[in-house]
Amino acid sequence: MSPHTRYLDLRSCPPGISVHTYAFYALKNLEPGTDLTMISAEDPLLLLNQLQLQLRNRLWWECAREDKSWNVHIRRREDTEALTLQDILSRDHERLDGLFVQMLARMRAYGTSAAMPSTLEFIQGLRRHISVENNIIAPAFTSLHGSEEHNPVATMLREHEDILNQAQIIEELFQQAAPDQIEAEIWLGLLAAALSKHEHREETRLFALWDALLNRRTDASALIHRVKTGLVT
Ligand SMILES: [Fe+2]
Ligand SMILES: [Fe+2]
Repeated sequence: MSPHTRYLDLRSCPPGISVHTYAFYALKNLEPGTDLTMISAEDPLLLLNQLQLQLRNRLWWECAREDKSWNVHIRRREDTEALTLQDILSRDHERLDGLFVQMLARMRAYGTSAAMPSTLEFIQGLRRHISVENNIIAPAFTSLHGSEEHNPVATMLREHEDILNQAQIIEELFQQAAPDQIEAEIWLGLLAAALSKHEHREETRLFALWDALLNRRTDASALIHRVKTGLVT
């Protein structure tokens, strides 16, 4: 174990606190570079999956059954190599969300002109991400395609068009000599709402479907390599 290993023994959960809450706060505050060993008297898989959803897929773990307990080695996902589409694409969502927040903070502090470079960087990253999903991943999983209303790929492609149209409007606005901040706030708010729903839908459904199909393919590592290369800034 590394010198940074911490222990979370769910068997010692204080009275009056649910095991779920106890584990949630310990894992929410898990610092980068830290290893945590969680010990549970019950099979922890359901709990881990619930926490993973709440923590936006931030956790990586491996589980070992002992005589009377389960030992779960847990790390932050960013401390491990991204090996699945879920992992790679969710991390890129987080990176884009971070750029968006920085851009907004800069605009509010210094005005729209000062925020132009970070706005264009965000939009460039967003276009690259969407291009990878549209042009590398979606064509590799045509069995998921179809015209039915609830098809997840059709929904993704439709939402991408709306998001790209909004990004185009924002880009043109920021390229004006003196972009109007109120107008910029409105368009950025609309884009933030659209992205939030879109990313949630992808992270909770589509990426898992893609990964399940990917596991059956012989060219899985080549596809992962193309995706990683396509996302590189
Ligand atoms: Fe997307
Ligand atoms: Fe995405």
